[in-house]
Formats: sequence, C-alpha cells, structure tokens
Amino acid sequence: MTRKPTPEDRFAFGLWTVGWPAQDTFGVGTRPPLDPVETVQRLADLGAYGVTFHDDDLIPFGSPDTERDRLIFRFKKALEATGMVVPTATTNLFNHPVFKDGGFTSNDRSVRRFALRKVMRNIDLAAELGASTYVMWGGREGAESDAAKDVVAALERYREAVDTLAQYVTEQGYGLRFALEPKPNEPRGDLLLPTIGHALGFISSLQYSHMVGLNPEVGHEQMAGLNFVHGIAQAMWHGKLFHIDLNGQRSVKFDQDLVFGHGDLLNAFFLVDLLEHGPLNGGPAYDGPRHFDYKPLRTEDIDGVWASAAANMSTYLLLKERAAAFRADPEVQEALATTRVPELAEPTLAPGESLQDLVADRSAYEDYDADAVGERGYGVVALNQLAVEHALGARLP
Ligand code: GCO
Ligand code: MN
Ligand code: MN
Repeated sequence: MTRKPTPEDRFAFGLWTVGWPAQDTFGVGTRPPLDPVETVQRLADLGAYGVTFHDDDLIPFGSPDTERDRLIFRFKKALEATGMVVPTATTNLFNHPVFKDGGFTSNDRSVRRFALRKVMRNIDLAAELGASTYVMWGGREGAESDAAKDVVAALERYREAVDTLAQYVTEQGYGLRFALEPKPNEPRGDLLLPTIGHALGFISSLQYSHMVGLNPEVGHEQMAGLNFVHGIAQAMWHGKLFHIDLNGQRSVKFDQDLVFGHGDLLNAFFLVDLLEHGPLNGGPAYDGPRHFDYKPLRTEDIDGVWASAAANMSTYLLLKERAAAFRADPEVQEALATTRVPELAEPTLAPGESLQDLVADRSAYEDYDADAVGERGYGVVALNQLAVEHALGARLP
C-alpha cells in the first residue's frame, strides 16, 4: 500500500542525502559517490519536485573555475530535462579543516571573512537557479571547551554574518530569504542556536529579522528531548517556519537522520497534521517544500538508497491521508470538544473587558468553585486513542 508522489506534493531532497556514501566515525563508506545528474534524474523518476545542495555537493571544494562552470552547466541541463527545481540551497561551512573552529564564529577573523565570501558566492548560484530559501546550518559554530569560546562575542559575530548576508541579498535584488537550522550538538560538542527557541530569540535581535526564519529538523529537536510538533507550532506562531527538514530520530542520542516516520511515528503523524491543516483551532498551514534531510542507512546498497527515498515520500503521503481522516471524523470533533480544545481559542478576557472588570468579577475568583472544576476530566486519553487508531489506519473513512 505505498503511495506514489507527484511534483504537486513538492517533495525535495538534498544531494547530500541520497548521495551520502555512508562513511561514519568508525568506518569507511559502503557505497560509491553519486553523480548529481543521476540523482536529479532518479529523484524526478520517483516523483520528487526539487533538489537542494551545499555548494561543495555540486562543485567540490577548490575546483577551478572552468570545472565549476562545467559542473553547473550539466546540473542545469539535468534540471531542464526533468523539470526539477532548486527551492533551497546552502553552504558547506563544516567539512574543510579551515572551518574546524567555525565559519561565521571562528575565533580566527580571516576564517570568518572567507566564510562570508564562500556563502556569497553560492548565494549568487542559488539566485541564478531560482531558489527562494537559503539555509544556514551552523554545524561548526560551537565549541567543546567553555574556556575556548567567548559565546557572547560569537553571537555578535553570528548576528554580524547573518545581517551582512541579508544586506548582500537585498543589494543584489535577489528574492531569497534565510532559514536558520538549529541543532543542539554534533559535530561540535555544543552548537550555538541549539533549538528552535534559541534561534527565534537570535532572529529577533537581527537588523534584517524580517528576512530570516527557520529550517527546523525533526531529529535535531528530538536529540534535545524536545517535542518537534510544539517547536513547529511556535515557529508558525512567529511566522518563521520558512522551510523544514523532515527525517526520523529515536530519542536522545547522536543525529540519526533516519527516514521520515522511522523514529517517533506518532509525533510524525501530528506533525503532518499540523503542516497540512494548520493549528486545531484554525490558522495558516505550512506552504513550503516538504524537504527530506535524511541519510540512507549504512547497511543499504544503492537500490536501498532509492527505496529509502521513496519511503520518505510514501510515509508522508500515508500520514497525510490519515491526518485528513482524523480531522474529518465527527467522533474526533466531539472528543476535541470534550477536551475543550476549541475553548482555548477564546480570549481569556471578554471583548472590551478591562483589567478592572476582571478584578471585579466575583465569579472569576471569590465565588469560583475550583474544587468542582478540578474534579472534571478532560478526556485526553480517549482523544489521543482516536488519533492512534487513525494513524494505524483502524478507522478508515
Ligand atoms: C544535520 C543537518 C545537515 C544540514 C545540512 C544543511 O543532519 O546535521 O541536517 O544535514 O541540514 O547540512 O546545511
Ligand atoms: Mn540531522
Ligand atoms: Mn538538516
């Protein structure tokens, strides 16, 4: 019962996802590298609409200009031939040894200047390819020792970098927005901007905050033991969910980058429900690309790689069907009412009610029967069980 996607579903993959040769800290790669042109063709055949990349995924670090032009030319031809788009691009500021103490926040000023120029160069390419979002994941922006990083100065430099790049995009007239991707740790022991909340606080301090939002990744919040659905809801509430990295993670441990749904499946169900339908009491749904940032397991051969790419999309579509049935089920609507979810949309003060009115309202406090209200159940378990049964396909419409 798999589901086959179409370009209208707007599924996208990074070149570095299916293209990961599966090297890890303890072992060499188990698969040969993939040619980006082949990746574009295979992803298009599977029903994806887009492909994303770090500069170095497409053009190996240090390539001479003629080689760079050749690689871009053949990539563009593959995009044209397949109709695939590039919704998003990003910069590799983590692989080369020059970035071992960070890119935007390296203690070495010359590294920070080099990082800015490297990003600008790839922003030019992203704009040329029609991207609308530019992702910034600070994999090396962090530290292992509290002695070796002035975190306050590092945040100043991070802000300087993001504002400088936003100014660059503005002056060039590019239609790009930035999406910061939080992560608590890995590869650095501790990363700056570790969670959605930290990143939102950082964005509010920017001069160009209107151009900067988030690219949250499922596993990154879950690595910190956080509820991804809550994080996404808060990002939406701030109008900052510019992009999303979908994958799976099984609890607090190293970044697994599993196939979407292969970690916390129930959280994935509620995530798809929120993205597709918006909040329970109404509000905008997510309208950006559904971008998978996962790593095919090291155990898989190349056929397994393409099967895992298809699995991400199929699982998303299955959960989308289940979530639609959940929302449409009258029993669910009833259970939501019992749980008083709709009541949460009502402002706590009545329209026009003043602070003095609240203080004068004896029914709100002096005559309030807190014990009686405290006895009343909310029926949360029954509602949650309905969600589980929908997610498991036990209540097909
Ligand atoms: C991770 C990150 C990275 C970034 C990507 C974009 O798994 O730690 O998701 O994959 O998203 O490199 O810069
Ligand atoms: Mn990850
Ligand atoms: Mn990611």
